[in-house]
Amino acid sequence: MSQIRLDKCLTLLGIGTRTEVKTLIRKGAVLVRDQRITDPSAKFDAENAEIQVGATQYVFKSSRTIMMNKTAGVLTAARDPKQKTVMDTLPEIYVGLGCMPVGRLDKDTTGLLILTSDGQLAHRLISPMHEVGKVYEAVIDGPFTDMDREAFERGIEIRDSDGTFTAKPAKVRVMENGDHESIVRLSITEGKYHQVKRMFAMRGRTVTGLRRLAIGRLWLDHLEPGAFRELGPEEIALLEQDGDEL
Ligand code: URA
Repeated sequence: MSQIRLDKCLTLLGIGTRTEVKTLIRKGAVLVRDQRITDPSAKFDAENAEIQVGATQYVFKSSRTIMMNKTAGVLTAARDPKQKTVMDTLPEIYVGLGCMPVGRLDKDTTGLLILTSDGQLAHRLISPMHEVGKVYEAVIDGPFTDMDREAFERGIEIRDSDGTFTAKPAKVRVMENGDHESIVRLSITEGKYHQVKRMFAMRGRTVTGLRRLAIGRLWLDHLEPGAFRELGPEEIALLEQDGDEL
């Protein structure tokens, strides 16, 4: 997004509707890099441009990356005719800038979801070639044994109605171990369909709750369920670093 119309840029910034911002521009209320522009259709290179509207200063960035604390019951999809998606919970500006979810969390999975308009970043985070670790915390309906741990660390062979593959070795940390319920953290570098649930299913366990806690070295912080915030460059860099703690 290099050259962009001024009226579009202002709507993406959330300043008003197309009609409202056109009026503001024509009234002379808008300065771009200290120059007053009164033509709403004027095109300019908006990246990092300082834009003043009345007394308020904005900086336009076309590339945005967001951390969201996804709640259960929301689909990780761009749009769905019937069900609420994570995109429905975002302000229009992010949709307009092309933010999309990176990978998928199941409808009932909660926790860290990244949305970005940076296609290359999205590719690096989901491509198995780049082996970016994703940390999940699973609640399961029974104990997690030493044999389960060995199987996870070796790489579980998955054979079910959704297909067959050998999962890459997972890192494991048992948080609680009980006869009827256990809590297990694992870090995996792949994101196959229902991967974590299928890994536990191969060990005879059902996942009763699943939350993603981290991607790379970026951990979900204290965002309220359903809330989101933009990430800065240092945090975006953490996403691609090898996470060694669980
Ligand atoms: N694995 C799953 O089974 N579900 C998710 O949502 C993510 C990973």
